[in-house]
Amino acid sequence: MTETLEVKKEKAPYVIEWRDGFKIGVAQVDQEHRHLFTLVRALNLASVDQTMEELLEYVVTHFSNEQDLMERSGYPAFEQHLRLHEEFAAQTADFLGSGIEWSEDRVQELRRFLNKWLIGHIMTHDLRFGKWHASHNAVVASPSVRTTRSSRGFFARLFASR
Ligand SMILES: [Fe+2]
Repeated sequence: MTETLEVKKEKAPYVIEWRDGFKIGVAQVDQEHRHLFTLVRALNLASVDQTMEELLEYVVTHFSNEQDLMERSGYPAFEQHLRLHEEFAAQTADFLGSGIEWSEDRVQELRRFLNKWLIGHIMTHDLRFGKWHASHNAVVASPSVRTTRSSRGFFARLFASR
C-alpha cells in the first residue's frame, strides 16, 4: 500500500511535443525547431550532460542558419533577433553554471526552461519573421548553410567557459 502511494506521488515527466501549430512557414527553420523539441524531450538524468552538449551544438547551428537566412533576406529586425538568441545563450549558461547538481527535478526544470523559451520565442519572434518572409517572397536558405560570424564567436566564448 505504501509503495503504491509512493509511486503515485512521482511526477509525470514534463514533455511538450512538437506540433504543427509551432510552424512558422519556413521549411528549414521548422525542421530545425522540430529537432530541438526532440532533443529537449530526450533529456534525462542518466545522459543529461551528453544530450545537453548535443543540444547546444545544434542550437548554435540552428541559430546561425536562422540568422543567416534573416540577414540574407534583408529582414529589418535581424539585429534585434540576434540579441534574443544571445539572451537565450546567456540564460542557458546561467542555468548550467549555477553549480546545482543534476537530479530528476533539475532535469525537469531544464526541460521546462528550454521548452518555454522555445515556444515563446518561436510563436512570437520567429513567427514574425515567417510572416515577413512569406510576404516579401524572400530568398530560401540553402540547407547547407554553416555557422556565420554573427553567433560563432559569441557561442564559442560562452560555452567554452562552462
Ligand atoms: Fe529565432
